[in-house]
Amino acid sequence: MVRMLKAEEIREFLRREIIGQDEAVEAVVRAVTVAMLGVTDPKHPLGTFLFMGPTGTGKSAMARALAKVLHGDEDKVVVVNCTEFKHSHEVSKLIGAPPGYVGHDQPPFIPPEKIQDRFTVVVFEELEKAHPTLCDLLLQMLENGELYTAKGEKLDFTKCFIIMTSNVSAREIDDITKEAIGFQPPNPPEEDPDKFDRHIRQVCMQALERSFRPEFINRLDEIIVFRRLKMDHLQKILDKFLLDTRARFAIAGIGTVITDEAKAFLLQKGANLRYGARPLKRAVRQYLEYSLAQFVMHHGVSEREVVYVLADPSNDTLRFEVRPLKKGELIVMN
Ligand SMILES: Nc1ncnc2c1ncn2[C@@H]1O[C@H](COP(=O)(O)OP(=O)(O)O)[C@@H](O)[C@H]1O
Ligand SMILES: [Mg+2]
Repeated sequence: MVRMLKAEEIREFLRREIIGQDEAVEAVVRAVTVAMLGVTDPKHPLGTFLFMGPTGTGKSAMARALAKVLHGDEDKVVVVNCTEFKHSHEVSKLIGAPPGYVGHDQPPFIPPEKIQDRFTVVVFEELEKAHPTLCDLLLQMLENGELYTAKGEKLDFTKCFIIMTSNVSAREIDDITKEAIGFQPPNPPEEDPDKFDRHIRQVCMQALERSFRPEFINRLDEIIVFRRLKMDHLQKILDKFLLDTRARFAIAGIGTVITDEAKAFLLQKGANLRYGARPLKRAVRQYLEYSLAQFVMHHGVSEREVVYVLADPSNDTLRFEVRPLKKGELIVMN
C-alpha cells in the first residue's frame, strides 16, 4: 500500500535522508507529486532519472530513500546490476532467452510480478558497465513503458519510477575532486566554491553524450549530477549513521550515549572528501559497532545500565564505560 503524501512531506523526508543533494531531491519530489496526482502519461514510466557524479554521494541511497517514503520499506527496490550485462549475449537475460536458446529455462531478470505494484522503484545500477545493446532495450521501456519477455509476457513499467545510476568519468571526477580538496581549509578558501562542481557537471554531461545515444538521453525526464560531499555534510551523515547504530543496539536492549569526543574521533577516522560517505560508514562499523559488540559480549550490560562511548586517542580506538542509568534518565535518540 502506498501512502498518499504531500510534496512537502516527501521533500522533508528525502532531505533528511539524503544530505546535501537538494537538486536531486527536488527532481524526485517533482516526479512523485505528479505521479500521486495521477496525471502522468499512462504509456510511460512514472518518472525516469539518470544519476551521475562522484562516488559515495547518495545516488543508490536516494533510490532506497524513495522506496522508504513511498512504501515504508527501503528494501522495496528492484535492483538491476548492469555489470551482469557486460557482453552483448548477456543482454537477453533481462527479458529471458527465447525457446531453444541457452538459458531459455531461466526466468527473465525482472519477473512481471516484481513490478506490478503501484510506485515500484526500479534501479539500474552502473549503467555504463552494460553492453550498449542494453540501452536499446531500455529505450523501448522508456518510450512505451513496456517490454516483452522472450516468452511474450508483458513487463509493464508504467507504474514504476526508473532510476539509472552511472559512474561515467569516475577517474576524471576523482581528479577534479582531488584538486578541490587542495583548496579546503587550512589552505586558501575556494574563491569560487561551485567551480569544481560545475567542472564535474561538464565532464559528466560530455561523457554522457559520448556513452549513450541521443534518443536515449532525450527520453530521460531528469539527468542529475550529484554534488561532492563537504565536511559539514559528512558531519550530518555521521549523525545519521550513529542514530541508526544506536537504534540497532537499543533494539538488542543496549542503551548507548555517544560523546562528542567519540564523534570527533569517528569523523577524523572516516571523513574522506574524495570517496564520499563510504569510508565514514566503514569507520563506524570498524571502530564503533564491532568493538562495542565485543565489549558488550565480554562485560554484559543490564537494562539498568548505559554504555558511554568515549575516545581513546592514545590507543587509536574508542573506549566504553558502563554507567548506571540514572533515575528518570531517558536515553534520547537525537
Ligand atoms: N548525501 C548523502 N546523504 C546521506 N547518506 C549518504 C549520502 N551519500 C552517501 N550516503 C551513505 O553512504 C553510503 C554509500 O552511498 P551510495 O548512495 O551507495 O553512493 P553512490 O552515490 O556511489 O551510489 C550509503 O550507505 C548512504 O547511506
Ligand atoms: Mg551506487
